[in-house]
Amino acid sequence: MAPMAATPFRRRAANLSFGNTFSSPSLPLHYLMSYKIVLLPGDGIGPEIVSAAVEVLKKIGTLCGHSFTFETHLIGGIAIDQTGNPLPDETVAACKASDAILLGAVGGPKWDDPSAKVRPEQGLLGIRKALSLFANLRPIKPFEELLDASPLKREIVEGTDILFFRELTGDVYFGESGRYGSGKEETAFQQMIYSVGEVERVVRLAAAAARTRKNHLTSVDKANVLEPSRLWRQTAARVMKEEFPDVKYDVVLVDAMAMFLIQRPRDFDVIVTANLFGDILTDEASMLPGSLGMLPSASIGDGGPGLYEPIHGSAPDIAGKGVANPLATILAAAMMLRHSLKLEDAALKIEAAVRQVLADGLRTADIARGKPSLNTKQMLDAVLERLK
Ligand code: IPM
Ligand code: MG
Repeated sequence: MAPMAATPFRRRAANLSFGNTFSSPSLPLHYLMSYKIVLLPGDGIGPEIVSAAVEVLKKIGTLCGHSFTFETHLIGGIAIDQTGNPLPDETVAACKASDAILLGAVGGPKWDDPSAKVRPEQGLLGIRKALSLFANLRPIKPFEELLDASPLKREIVEGTDILFFRELTGDVYFGESGRYGSGKEETAFQQMIYSVGEVERVVRLAAAAARTRKNHLTSVDKANVLEPSRLWRQTAARVMKEEFPDVKYDVVLVDAMAMFLIQRPRDFDVIVTANLFGDILTDEASMLPGSLGMLPSASIGDGGPGLYEPIHGSAPDIAGKGVANPLATILAAAMMLRHSLKLEDAALKIEAAVRQVLADGLRTADIARGKPSLNTKQMLDAVLERLK
């Protein structure tokens, strides 16, 4: 079969698959597809881990008969250094023309001055907004092999399988902000803002995902205090009642959720929440599997290219040393294959190789608990060897 353009398939990206129960679509349809991937390595360990994931993608391409073309663009601190802009227009244009985007991390102490006018994080927020990536999926499913690396007891963490849907293009992140006054009267504000439409679309995606899993959705808000949370709660309740009456639905306040996550994480299936609450809760939840270094995330919108990244940051303390854990980014590449490119088989192969590496006792320093560890290159080679 002749190679086909990827564009018609990109339009189907909204037709998502979630969780572990998905069975592969007819493989021959996708045979010999060619996909355009934009790489945004960014700052700190970003370039090291993205190039590791690219090696994995190249190998899986050979194994499964797909071809990927890679184009690297600037974002974050390095983009500020080279162009003065954390999100150059060229980067946005290339992302829009791609099938999917793989991002490393942005930010670092070099650009941390709170009085700076441009910040690396604006690049990340900007690309989320520019591509309307309103849903951020963060799966929290500890690997059996790493349970002892979790700061929580095995009996609490074992069996946890949560899929977070964090709203990603609204809330205080994009509300109006400013300062006025001076001296002790100097005052800063940041508006928390949500519309009905913004809540509906992310709740719908989360509820649809719940149907493919344990059929349970929990919405998290702070409706006892915040007006945007009350709008969120009313809207979510209506969507669930009208469109998802079959999905078990409950509501938890964000402070209580912070507690439940470490007390009884197994009780949750899909969790949907606002941008700021999701930012905080997913960092908290990321500790359940033992290391931030293992967790991928996907940011998706209504059918355009999705953006995939590890949820850890740029880790400036170890940047350039070649010791970063590449597994979260490799798993992000697997999510990219699954959600944007519909290559479930290829995604499963990568996930199996990562599991095998862990089962074989191989660890990078962040998950080695003081025992001997592999560097980034050795870990990459171990994954490549097991990719079949
Ligand atoms: C994340 C990060 C970002 C966020 C930062 C780097 C802007 O913490 O993706 O969770 O707050 O969204
Ligand atoms: Mg965060």
